Amino acid sequence: MKNFININNVKNYHKLVDDALILKKNKLKFNKKNIDITLGLIFFNPSLRTRMSTYKAAKNLGINVIQINLNNDGWKLEFEEGSIMNLNKSEHVKDAARVISQYCDIVGIRCFPELKKRKHDEKELIIESFRKYSKIPVINLESSCSHPLQALADAITIKENILLKKPKIVLSWAPHVKALPHAVANSFIKMALRLNYDITVANPKGYNLSKVITENIKIIHDQENAFENADLIYAKNWCCYDNYGQVIETEKNWIINKEKMKLTNDAKFMHCLPVRRNLVVTDEILDSSNSLILNQAENRIFSAQIVLKNIIDEI
Ligand code: CP
Repeated sequence: MKNFININNVKNYHKLVDDALILKKNKLKFNKKNIDITLGLIFFNPSLRTRMSTYKAAKNLGINVIQINLNNDGWKLEFEEGSIMNLNKSEHVKDAARVISQYCDIVGIRCFPELKKRKHDEKELIIESFRKYSKIPVINLESSCSHPLQALADAITIKENILLKKPKIVLSWAPHVKALPHAVANSFIKMALRLNYDITVANPKGYNLSKVITENIKIIHDQENAFENADLIYAKNWCCYDNYGQVIETEKNWIINKEKMKLTNDAKFMHCLPVRRNLVVTDEILDSSNSLILNQAENRIFSAQIVLKNIIDEI
């Protein structure tokens, strides 16, 4: 694997998931003492899980890690080619990326969308600029439109906990007070299709995701109807795609609770975290024995570790 920017960078996704599960049983198996490889973790946005799990994954392999919160601790970056840099941006991404390539052997980038102009966000300017100018492999730690490390951790979690070959999975929109990106939902759908799961998206009218992502996917606007006989409920909020970046109405009645979960086939519950309790989903579901939220967070280590291992094998 050269880069891990989205699921298309993975040739055999089934094998990647299986290899992560094997790795989980013996997490220090590939730890090479004195390995001279450095991973740079560049954060333009906050993170708990991605930062700590990727650091842990690197340490399990014996890799050095350098981290920076670029927005607070680095120079403000210019992305436009040929720009006359006489305003507030001090460094061009082409210089920053090439300098980082001298200090690191792999670089991970977290860069959320602005959620103002859809076409701008879909260009994935930050991560694509690092891909273009870096001399080293690039890992997506969540970009404007995708979060492939989360989706891989979710795939590992499903394989571990749901023994059905083709589980009925419902990705359900849930309420939130802020406009949130589509990255987790997009990558979850791509992963579920790649693994041939039976996936349905449940969202209120006006909240359909990109048609490119949901092509050939069943979309249901009646949440209770969607939940019937589901084996897994995956909750996530996302903002409007058509009225891009808007929260048109906070549909509080889309909260996931015990009554709705009773409609399912004793479904497992997943959420990538962080989660706003009792707004998105009730405490009793998050803390129930069917909740897999902590398994997902734990599997972020093995998702990052198997990706790093595959990249190192090709350096
Ligand atoms: N799920 C996830 O990516 O968590 P963080 O934003 O805390 O990294």
